[in-house]
Amino acid sequence: MTQTLRFDSLLVHGGLEAGPAGATSVPIVQSSSFAYETAEGLEDVFRGRAVGSVYTRIGNPTTEALEKRLALLEGGGTAIATASGMAAITTAVLTILRSGDEILSSSSLFGGTFSLFRDTLSNYGITATFVDPLDLDGFRNAINERTRLLFVETIGNPKLDVPDVPALARIAHEAGLPIMVDSTVSTPYLATGAALEADILAYSTSKYINGTGTTIGGVIVDRGVFDWNSPKFPHFEQFHKKYRAFAFTARARKLVHKDVGACAAPFNSYLLTEGVQTLALRMERHCSSAVALARFLKDHPKVAWVSYPGLEDSPHHEIATKLYGGRYGGLLAFGTGDKASAFKVINGLKLAKNLANIGDAKTLVIHPASTICADYNGEEKALMGVTEDLIRVSVGIEDSLDIIDDFKQALDGI
Ligand SMILES: Cc1ncc(COP(=O)(O)O)c(C=O)c1O
Repeated sequence: MTQTLRFDSLLVHGGLEAGPAGATSVPIVQSSSFAYETAEGLEDVFRGRAVGSVYTRIGNPTTEALEKRLALLEGGGTAIATASGMAAITTAVLTILRSGDEILSSSSLFGGTFSLFRDTLSNYGITATFVDPLDLDGFRNAINERTRLLFVETIGNPKLDVPDVPALARIAHEAGLPIMVDSTVSTPYLATGAALEADILAYSTSKYINGTGTTIGGVIVDRGVFDWNSPKFPHFEQFHKKYRAFAFTARARKLVHKDVGACAAPFNSYLLTEGVQTLALRMERHCSSAVALARFLKDHPKVAWVSYPGLEDSPHHEIATKLYGGRYGGLLAFGTGDKASAFKVINGLKLAKNLANIGDAKTLVIHPASTICADYNGEEKALMGVTEDLIRVSVGIEDSLDIIDDFKQALDGI
């Protein structure tokens, strides 16, 4: 019945069956394994003839409730909750690519994903080509006979560029390839996987889905729309025969997710199921306060530049307006000219916390060049849009006047 509800109602009710003794929040089933009365009963579950939980690395009732809700939020499909956003991306990519295959990826990426693609996977024969996601022709031209996947972030972190994801999806599909989308920054509230024409979504739930900075998690959503019955994907053949549109989920669950073992912990799934209920309300506030802070920073004499797609003069404003319905997310970046002044601003902030996260209820800042991107050389930092003066702000849900006051006093002090 919850399938027919609108988005904001799905956040609260989606995928939740009545709990024991009338419990209205998802029960935490903190059990590593599940007992069966008979050997036949357990065999039936293992062979897929009966539905049931076996072992929490493979599936867990609390995690399943979260998975159902997150799939509904993308417009339908199936979901696999994972231990982190990086676990989701790694598991999803390893489900599709084999040694010798290539990822065609946006160059505007979260540092962890960049290093996964460039450094870790290349040790196992999976390589990546990075192209500016705004360059649609560049993407089309970079597809070659080894390409098996297009990958893009909806709103690049920390570059805050906004690619035309549906246009990239069409380029992928014309070439018979799937597109995987990381919508950590936009969340399904700004645009669902269906609206973005994504085949697979793989993103971090540690951020806005959780909303209060308590939990690390990730999710893979398979919308069941890509045709895996293709000579490019012979390793999907057996799964396609049996599971048709959901061949990806079957291959992920039966092989990679099970074997890699980066499963979600039941207690984390509970916290995420609780947190996601307020996503719509929080995102509205994150977005409106980010606009207010971006406008304030833009007019401040000590601020050299501001990057936020919600500013009318941003080069990304038009496409972001088209894709995200006039909401531009809670992340912005600005610069004060050099590293020393950026550090002074961060040290002067009293309300905003200096830490490596985004999407918390609290306002957060970080200097990416010296922290999360410190291991990258100048050229790589430039590719990711990381300058020495860049301060990334994850605008929280405090009163926006208090957020602005905090930045004002920190900037006035430099
Ligand atoms: C855009 C994006 N994708 C993926 C990740 C990785 O998520 P996690 O930290 O949950 O592994 C992050 C984390 O900051 C992110 O910002």
